[in-house]
This record gives sequence, structure tokens and C-alpha cells, in this order.
Amino acid sequence: MSEIYYATSTGPVNIATLKYWGKRDKDLNLPTNSSISVTLDQANLRTLTTASCSSKFDNDQLWINGATYPLDGARSKQVLADLRSLRKEVENENSSLPKIATFPLHIVSENNFPTAAGLASSAAGFAALISAVARLYKLPTDASELSKIARKGSGSACRSLFGGYVAWEMGDLANGEDSKAVQVADKKHWPDMKAAILVVSDMKKDVPSTSGMQLTVHTSDLFQHRIKEVVPKRFIEMKKAIIEKDFPTFAELTMKDSNSFHSVCLDSYPPIFYLNDTSKRIIKLINLLNESAGKIIAAYTFDAGPNAVIYYEEKNEKYVLGLLHQFFSHLGGWESSSFDPKNAVIPE
Ligand code: PMV
Repeated sequence: MSEIYYATSTGPVNIATLKYWGKRDKDLNLPTNSSISVTLDQANLRTLTTASCSSKFDNDQLWINGATYPLDGARSKQVLADLRSLRKEVENENSSLPKIATFPLHIVSENNFPTAAGLASSAAGFAALISAVARLYKLPTDASELSKIARKGSGSACRSLFGGYVAWEMGDLANGEDSKAVQVADKKHWPDMKAAILVVSDMKKDVPSTSGMQLTVHTSDLFQHRIKEVVPKRFIEMKKAIIEKDFPTFAELTMKDSNSFHSVCLDSYPPIFYLNDTSKRIIKLINLLNESAGKIIAAYTFDAGPNAVIYYEEKNEKYVLGLLHQFFSHLGGWESSSFDPKNAVIPE
């Protein structure tokens, strides 16, 4: 009788505070700069994936929230080929293991956040898939090693292999062997740090990230300045701010880097606009809040779309979310936050 082998794992969402934007190798997803992210709480945002394989399955197949997808895209194929070749190595080293590397795989995924929320779900999706298959195949679970496979699926996915604060070191080898994620600090290191998401629009991205990056790399003059002069310095400063739990510095760098990323988008030709008027009003409000607090207590950041992610320390939640709720209670995202507007403290 043909057996079915299976294993389950989760993959969290990560939001970059120092943005990855630009590829030096499109096929291997090698970036033009290093980046940093915070992995969000899995209670609110995660993909849960079960991977199974059997000789009786017909082909590789993927289900996301019940809908069927073929696993025949170049990126998914590459990821599965890498995982299978690692399983073959494991089988060669241990002859008592069943020979399952060539069996078709069935991947069943479920997101606990609305897929329509306009949030980058591909990072959580690839991370969950890779963790589940690595468990199924009993691969050595070095997260940095697995991050190199995740990177080929979707660049930013490599950072979702870790919790807490994560750096993606760009590396400089042509084969990408040194382009991997490493943990800067785990979540426990800075437990007060919190993130809130404001869903400004759940429409599909105007310009997908891969084509947007290519346009920026080839047409923006400002981009060269960003990757050579700005990001390398910021990468060191942001890691230091995380290690020292220095919120004002971390927050200032986060906001400046979001601004810098959206500036190179605007400097692309033709220009790419990801922020809309609501995003800009959120930026203004966070700046006013920090001014009235007399110090930086909140940071905004925006990926390739208009939705805002706000970082703050828990002790300031009543001010930060209190003010945001007063002006933006109509936006999506509040349902996944534990904030009670009755606790709001609004500055004069
Ligand atoms: O990994 P991709 O191709 O989805 O690109 C992610 C790009 C940004 O979200 C804008 C920045 C980042 O570092 O996550």
C-alpha cells in the first residue's frame, strides 16, 4: 500500500523597516541592497501549511484557502527542486529513510488574514511551504540555509524564516550562496514593540514588485545614490538601534527609509505611485503626533501599496492608536488589533 507522508508548519508575515528594492540577478532574486524587517505576530498574520507526498498523487498541487493552484510557476518549481535535491542528499546519507524525494507533493495552505487585505502574503506563504516541506523531508533545519531557498521563491520571503528582527544580507557572490537571512534579535529581546496595520486599499498592486524594481533599477538616478550612499549606512545604524532598543532612532530610520523607497519609485520613469492621499494623511498625522509628544513614539512604513504599518512601543499604544483611531477608524485592520478605543488618549 502506498503511504502518505505529511508535516505541518507556519510562516509569518514580515514587514521591512529597511526596504529591499532592486535585483542584481532576477532569476536568483539577488538584491541590490541588504534589508531589515520585523516579523509580525503569528496570532494575527500567518500562513498555516501542511505538505504531504505520496507515490499515488498525480502531480504537485497547491491549495490556498480551499482554491486549487498548479505548482508550475518558475519560482515554485525552483523552490521544490531545491528542496527535493536536499532530500536526495539526506536519503543518500541515511539509507534507512524512505525514498520520497521524487513523489508528487500536495501543499495545503490557509491564511488567517483576509487574502484580499492587500498584505504581502507571498512571504508568509513561501516560508510556510518551505518549513513544512523541510519538516516532511527531515532536512537539517538551519533557517539561514532554508532562507536561501525561500529567497528564490520571493525575495522578502527569506526574512520570514525567522521571528523577531531579521536582516537579509545581500551577499556578493554571483551564485547567491551568501545572500541569506540572519536574525538580528529575537522577539523577546524587545517585547514592547508592536505593529498596527491600516488597510487603506485592498485592491491589487498597481505595479507588481518585480516589474517595479526593474523599472527603478534601469531608470532612476536617485536609486544609485540610495543603494551606494544611503542603505549601507542605514543597515548598520538600524541593527544597532534594534540591539540597543533605541526606539526613536529605529523609528526615524524606518520612516526615512520608507520615504526613500517611495522617492526612488517616483523617480522611476514612468513614475510609480504606491502611496495615495490617505497614506499621505497617515504620514502627516504620525509626524504631528511625534511633534506633540516631543519625541518619536511612532513610525510609519509603506510597502509597494498604500497600506500603512505603524510601529510603536506598547506603553504608547493609547496615544498612537488612540489618535489613529480618531481619524482612521473607517479603515480596515482594526479588527486584528486588540486596541480598545475607550483607552484612547488624544493630545490637545
Ligand atoms: O519580495 P517581493 O518581491 O515581494 O518584494 C518586496 C518589496 C517590498 O515589500 C517593497 C520591500 C521589502 O523589503 O519587503
